[in-house]
Amino acid sequence: MSEIKKVKIGVLGMGVVGEELISIILNNRDKIRRQYSLDLEIKGVFVRNLDKPRRITGLNLTDNAEELLDDPEISVICECIGGAGTEKTREYVFRAVNNGKSVIMSSKKVLALYGKELMQKVLENKVGFGFDATVGGGIPIAKILKNCFKGEGINRVIGILNATSNFIYTRMDKDGLSFEEALKKAQELGYAENDPSEDINGYDALYKAIVLTLFSMKTWTDIRKYAVVPFSQINAADMKYAKELGYHIKPLVVVEKKKSIVYRIGPCLVKESNIAATTNDNFNVIVLEGTNTGVLGFYGQGAGSKPTASAMFDDLINVLNKKDSDELLSHELQLDEIHDVNSLEEYKNNLYWRITVENRVGMFANIASTMAKNNINIERIIQKDEEGDRIGVVLLTSSIDTETISNIIDELKENNIIINAVIPFLDE
Ligand SMILES: NC(=O)c1ccc[n+]([C@@H]2O[C@H](COP(=O)([O-])OP(=O)(O)OC[C@H]3O[C@@H](n4cnc5c(N)ncnc54)[C@H](OP(=O)(O)O)[C@@H]3O)[C@@H](O)[C@H]2O)c1
Repeated sequence: MSEIKKVKIGVLGMGVVGEELISIILNNRDKIRRQYSLDLEIKGVFVRNLDKPRRITGLNLTDNAEELLDDPEISVICECIGGAGTEKTREYVFRAVNNGKSVIMSSKKVLALYGKELMQKVLENKVGFGFDATVGGGIPIAKILKNCFKGEGINRVIGILNATSNFIYTRMDKDGLSFEEALKKAQELGYAENDPSEDINGYDALYKAIVLTLFSMKTWTDIRKYAVVPFSQINAADMKYAKELGYHIKPLVVVEKKKSIVYRIGPCLVKESNIAATTNDNFNVIVLEGTNTGVLGFYGQGAGSKPTASAMFDDLINVLNKKDSDELLSHELQLDEIHDVNSLEEYKNNLYWRITVENRVGMFANIASTMAKNNINIERIIQKDEEGDRIGVVLLTSSIDTETISNIIDELKENNIIINAVIPFLDE
């Protein structure tokens, strides 16, 4: 039997994820000792508030992160700090790496913002670095992407990556709730935080998209190049009308590798037969389109404390088993030539428009002439509810680039037409 190696671990954060991770470490100590000859010891845990009651007791808690980050006995830091403290989290993980410690990360935000720089530091310091848990939660998508697809490229990734927004959309779709009512329900059931802004404005999905792009298309992309359409920009009427057309609206991430990497993050109409349309409530889906394998779908709980902690524990054991950062990051290091990121500008798809017009002769002619002037076909025009002297109208148009969309919106507004929603279809 090989010699048992003692590993002292520092955990940053003991919220829902940190507590689960600690519990998995404690419950699996004997097994890991037997299988991997590693004796895991949690030397200390950093928290903000030492007086908060904790489910797991008997740990050495500290409210001074440096105590762990500068402790020469600690060789691995597991970061499970709340998203609110991005700058602090960044400072702590860089400090750990510079002090020669391996790092296991949970914060997709810090990774999306500073991952490229951080990976450089990891290589300089020859430490371990695990961050598979930052995307997919219980869906082991990073591990699949690292181990498979050696003989092919992934050219398109479609995902529902934000559980909160998907839960909200599902309740709007199935129960006819407004966005605000569905959000309230999500908060009551613990699917949304008190401050849900990062989830509903699309940023949480954006951070995950950046990490997923690294794993699937081997490219670090720059967050400043992205545009996100907030998931909150739809209402119950859009859900209802989409359904009448045979579609569901989903909070979608689409990443395509063309000459540049092209993104779209926001609400999207998906055909009811598509796997994304049937992914409901707090579930996530990731659909990969490989050059040889074709379409592959991965479905499961993309967040949640237990799935995330379980993925972090895998990262921890992987890091402890690999010898150096080059080996550990071999997949991420074989980066393709850097692709430019072109957000919505290059993304063209057929569009759904919900507008309100005055109920008078000539209004439809106005709309048709604006579209024709901009070289856009109106595929369908459907008159909806009437409210006094105004009527709701749904238009389906051919694909339009972002600049033309804004020109059309300006022209329609000049004609006293209210634009309520403009939502792309996933496919032509
Ligand atoms: N929850 C999920 O489903 C999930 C899924 C994937 C990834 N993640 C990531 O996992 C990380 C931890 O999430 P969580 O849900 O476990 O968070 P959480 O429940 O809010 O816990 C955060 C922990 O960090 C500590 N902390 C220290 N400094 C902080 C600061 N400046 N701001 C906020 N917290 C601070 C808190 O201390 P106190 O306990 O003393 O307050 C707490 O122990 C985040 O990066 C999140 O993005 C979470």
